[in-house]
Amino acid sequence: MLGDWRHSGSRRGGADLAAAIELHVLDGRLPVGTRLPAERELADALGVSRTLVGAALDRLREGGLVASRQGAGSWITFPRGGSGLQVHAGERLDLIDLAHASPSAVPALLPALDSARGLFTAELLDHGYGVRGLAVLRERVAARYTARGLPTEPGQVLITNGAQHAFALVLRTLAGPGDRVLVEQPCYPNTPEAIRAAHTLPVPVAVDPRDGWDVPGIEAALRQAAPRLAYFCVDFQNPTGHLLDAEDRERLGAALARARTPAVVDETMAELDLRDDASPVPPLAAFAGEWAITVGSASKSFWGGLRLGWIRAQEDVLDRLVAARWSLDLGSPVLEQLVLAELLADPDPVLRGRRAEVRERRDAVVAALGEHCPEWRFRVPEGGLSLWCGLPEPMSTRLSVAAANHGVQVAQGSRFGVHGGLERWLRLPFSLPPERLTEAVRRLGVAAASVVSTAPVLESPAGAVT
Ligand SMILES: Cc1ncc(COP(=O)(O)O)c(C=O)c1O
Repeated sequence: MLGDWRHSGSRRGGADLAAAIELHVLDGRLPVGTRLPAERELADALGVSRTLVGAALDRLREGGLVASRQGAGSWITFPRGGSGLQVHAGERLDLIDLAHASPSAVPALLPALDSARGLFTAELLDHGYGVRGLAVLRERVAARYTARGLPTEPGQVLITNGAQHAFALVLRTLAGPGDRVLVEQPCYPNTPEAIRAAHTLPVPVAVDPRDGWDVPGIEAALRQAAPRLAYFCVDFQNPTGHLLDAEDRERLGAALARARTPAVVDETMAELDLRDDASPVPPLAAFAGEWAITVGSASKSFWGGLRLGWIRAQEDVLDRLVAARWSLDLGSPVLEQLVLAELLADPDPVLRGRRAEVRERRDAVVAALGEHCPEWRFRVPEGGLSLWCGLPEPMSTRLSVAAANHGVQVAQGSRFGVHGGLERWLRLPFSLPPERLTEAVRRLGVAAASVVSTAPVLESPAGAVT
């Protein structure tokens, strides 16, 4: 788990090891209560002295991240100062959260809640269990697809508790233990997590930071790996922001049909098109037909706290998903569905406001990077909620540890790799207000300067982009 924890050229062995363990705790990969190996065992595994391990554990104990008892060993505890305040050089900093690419709620949400309340009374007379979701919401989701160029009937829509729930439901219904699932890399981290949790095997296909999807490569992977299922996020991909054009959609749709491989098309970011002259690209399902199982979400367009999403699929596939849902959760909350139905009654003005807000935030990050991190390379994304930054050297993990000490929580590149790696990359979400983003990037610049290697860097970042 610790991988390349030692900062090259650093003499701070104990501090570096403590920082690497701390990152795993902050990241949730070492949950509270996890028992650590004995000092001798850890020293042997890492090829370092027991003194160094002892120094690292002392630091972690001082910070309240580790507790030890004679004879019982050491384990992870709750960090002291979990109040969101970080201390750096005596200065107390408020923590800026760049670990989530999720904006706060749209202003239209409260008025939608007020209208929904009026409709709620009638719902109270019913039993409240609706495994497919409220009819009014399914109609409005279907109407939105039809407006986007994909004629859809309400009977093709299943309301879920978010896109992640939708993906997990598709996985458990259409794939079984040992099946291969094709997945993009870099990728939204919870996708490979869900694939592994379903005891299926992720097979990564690369998304190039500059050029996006390699469709001939995907065609070859479909032939060679014969996956049971594929996953693509072709509308402003998380983390790269790429959009697959219509020509490549047609080719990808044909490849899925030829291989008879169903694909989950994750449209979580689809409404966050930040192009000025946007000529919308039709949904992938318009090209892939029955082979596309489209997953959508209210989380980025309106608010993550609604915890609502949906699946659009052929009716026979939907019936199988509904049957599988009976053993899982029996439906989604009614009041939230009414709120979302209100928002979708006339979504265009709300979405226009959301896009303007996100565009301003993206531009603020781009400007701040130019000022504070001029060596970082990136492509300005046409949509979505994040920049995928090429760093001057493989330092993403070290940088995110140092960033936490400067009051910025950010996910290192390896989180977006199916099997780790991606140390030269960092995802920068732009879902906070501009001034917070500018301050976060300023702090990241300072953190980066503290961890960048002093040795000359001979290579440029792999796949560096402009
Ligand atoms: C690509 C992608 N898919 C799915 C999700 C999860 O969405 P939801 O909140 O609807 O479960 C996210 C959230 O960040 C995402 O970025």
